[in-house]
Amino acid sequence: MKFPLIIANWKLNGNKYFVNVFLKKLCYKLNKKKLYNIAIAPPLVYLHTSIKEIKNTNITICAQNVDVNLSGAFTGDVSISMLKDIGVKYVLIGHSERRIYHNETDFEILKKFINVKKNNLIPILCIGETLEEKKKNKTKEICFNQINLIIKNLGIKVFKNCVIAYEPVWAIGNKVSANFKDVQKIHKFIRSTISLYDKKISKQIIIQYGGSVNYKNAKELLMQQDIDGLLIGNSSLNINNFLKIIKILKN
Ligand code: PGA
Repeated sequence: MKFPLIIANWKLNGNKYFVNVFLKKLCYKLNKKKLYNIAIAPPLVYLHTSIKEIKNTNITICAQNVDVNLSGAFTGDVSISMLKDIGVKYVLIGHSERRIYHNETDFEILKKFINVKKNNLIPILCIGETLEEKKKNKTKEICFNQINLIIKNLGIKVFKNCVIAYEPVWAIGNKVSANFKDVQKIHKFIRSTISLYDKKISKQIIIQYGGSVNYKNAKELLMQQDIDGLLIGNSSLNINNFLKIIKILKN
């Protein structure tokens, strides 16, 4: 059985105290349960301490970003081999906040994707339309283009053991999430796009939803056939709210 992949994306939030308290409580609460698929994406400087905290549990760690370069004179950057070295499992690629605030280009996203795959870590390719694009009815076209960037350059097989996170830009950090029925339609479209190239991969690939997920809307989202997990920002910053979402998985 495939368990929904739930990822807490802490973005630029928290401190040493927050990380320790949050993860201690999470590990304690999940202690007796083995059947879950949960990852934490802390800020870079807390990756190492997070990895230590979750030792001996099934919780895994996700990096929020990686540099395009593998090594060398790139002050302030972190490479994929460094992330691998400390035990990171997933890497977010092309999150809209990086596309917007760091002008991340398709070329960089492609390069990062390649580096993550080559190092046997799991890329989480973030895709999704802006409000303007949504208003122009371009959601499917945008999602298709963002997925096709990978397929046309690397072939469909690279999507084996990968995650796609559909995160409509307008729904991120908002009070209102996208409607679960609309999300399901887009997820179905994403899966059928992949299935045009490879049926097996389309069934196996994890398609997460992200954008103002909270403990009130998580259940309906997770009940949809093509929503295989959630990428959670704001609601993952409060351990009690996050645990309420995890509790839904049991029901
Ligand atoms: P949000 O963020 O849950 O705060 O909307 C989700 C994300 O950007 O991954």
